[in-house]
Amino acid sequence: MNYAIANWKMNLPPEGIEPYMRMVSGRRRDHGTIVVAPPFPFLRDVAEQARGIEVAAQTCADQEKGAFTGEVAPSMIRYCGVGYVILGHSERRTLYGETDALIAKKLAVAIATGLTPVLCIGEDLRVRDSGQAGPHLAEQIHAVTQSIGNAPVIVAYEPIWAIGTGRNASGALCAETVGEVRSAIQRHWSRGDVPVLYGGSVTPENVQDLVTNGAIDGFLVGGASLDSARFLAIYDALAV
Ligand code: PGA
Repeated sequence: MNYAIANWKMNLPPEGIEPYMRMVSGRRRDHGTIVVAPPFPFLRDVAEQARGIEVAAQTCADQEKGAFTGEVAPSMIRYCGVGYVILGHSERRTLYGETDALIAKKLAVAIATGLTPVLCIGEDLRVRDSGQAGPHLAEQIHAVTQSIGNAPVIVAYEPIWAIGTGRNASGALCAETVGEVRSAIQRHWSRGDVPVLYGGSVTPENVQDLVTNGAIDGFLVGGASLDSARFLAIYDALAV
């Protein structure tokens, strides 16, 4: 199954939502599932306007309820009509100190609530240059093994050096690395059914090489997803 996920991050003004959803919702979707991930306050609006497309939160709490000021429980996300949650994004890991252990807890509560997690993993440039990307990614997969079980889950390979930098991984490098990710998933989770996406500076201009050579099941798109036409151009590239 192919996916194209639009990660709005902390972008798009409220008045941008309706025109965006009008463009993206209700299209023919022969070549995969479209998922839109808006900020928390817009989840319900977006879910209500979603026709034949899915909605994701960008993170969730690692607890179901209680005194956790500012946090949002997976069940509250479900209440908004949302089916997916992005977890372990590198911005959460690096800017907000999320560890593998915390991400494992978030995965467990999200899965228990019935959300499908999109687990982001990726290496920084230092790890890439030292030739340790494969082991690093395998460790990020291994660290959450207990949380995953047989639940539906999507993995997004997002090299940190490619996120928001305009420097995407080539299709060849993506294929090589995603091969390592798939074998780590097989080794640690005993799963062969997990879609693996690529994310990091995907645009309509560079998407073809990634589709043709990248050995992936779709994309997690940040910057280029803010423009609905550009996001749909990326989605349409999955048709080949
Ligand atoms: P980008 O972001 O497409 O802007 O590089 C991708 C992501 O962070 O998911």
